[in-house]
Amino acid sequence: MAKRPLIETAVFPVAGRGTRFLPATKASPKEMLPVVDKPLIQYAVEEALAAGARRLVFITGASKRAIEDHFDSDRELEGLLKSQGKSELVKQLHSVLPSYATCIYIRQPAPLGLGHAVLCARPAVGNEPFFVHLADDLIAAERPCLSQMAEVYAAKGASVIGCETVPRKDTDKYGIVAVEAPGQTARIRRIVEKPKPAVAPSNLAVVGRYLLSPAIFDHLARIGAGAGGEIQLTDGIARLLQEEAVYAHKFEGTRYDCGSKLGYLQATVAYALAHPALGKNFRAHLRQVVDGPRASRKAR
Ligand code: UTP
Repeated sequence: MAKRPLIETAVFPVAGRGTRFLPATKASPKEMLPVVDKPLIQYAVEEALAAGARRLVFITGASKRAIEDHFDSDRELEGLLKSQGKSELVKQLHSVLPSYATCIYIRQPAPLGLGHAVLCARPAVGNEPFFVHLADDLIAAERPCLSQMAEVYAAKGASVIGCETVPRKDTDKYGIVAVEAPGQTARIRRIVEKPKPAVAPSNLAVVGRYLLSPAIFDHLARIGAGAGGEIQLTDGIARLLQEEAVYAHKFEGTRYDCGSKLGYLQATVAYALAHPALGKNFRAHLRQVVDGPRASRKAR
């Protein structure tokens, strides 16, 4: 019998309205914003597949049809490319989603919060641990972030949350955790949603990667609206850690907040510079933009 992957299901909540990126996100989802040549949601799916997930659950909302279309096969386009002899492009289309992966789409009836979006995934997840991946947090890493977290899960057998330190002045933009001991992986003692810097228990922030025990669902079903009038995943985790261990893991890699315009631009530059086909020319172009034509000639 084939070896079963440790974590089979990845949940992608994509039902937020993306207000920080308006007007680009008015009619099309922020998860479809391309970084160089792939939409954010494609990077997200590739990371989850690399970590062993096979069942991909998208929690969708208003104007998210483009995500379903992206992962659907497009026979008409394939036929056209084939008739033009563009076999390389056909191969690229096929690589969007390998045949062993299954996509499930669940509609969140209204954007009631990330915790509510995760709760909507319950019928598809069942009683197994699962990944939650927020596509607008793009993480460039040698070992994909979810794979790093799956390794922690294999060692600890408990929920794991991807974390990074942030400037103290920014604690009110994140879920913030207090841990039992310093280190790359540490058990969480407390978690608070968007605390003001003066009262934040630390500057260790939760980013958009979670590996959660299914026990989270009962907590999410019970909690009411929290900060911002939304059902917060952070509040569900706060309940979970009263009865089970939950670990914070400082992942190795660089995170780009692609839900913000500046973070998105930073990601675009970093990924373009690292792109095997475009990197060299893009670097030369950037030099020219920043230093002027002379400096760029000198550098060559
Ligand atoms: P954000 O806090 O980034 O909210 O959501 P947002 O609506 O997407 O973007 P802004 O802040 O208005 O610009 C974090 C993640 O949770 C999902 C979002 O799609 C995003 O991936 N989410 C949020 C839902 O799926 N449903 C919700 O009700 C809220």
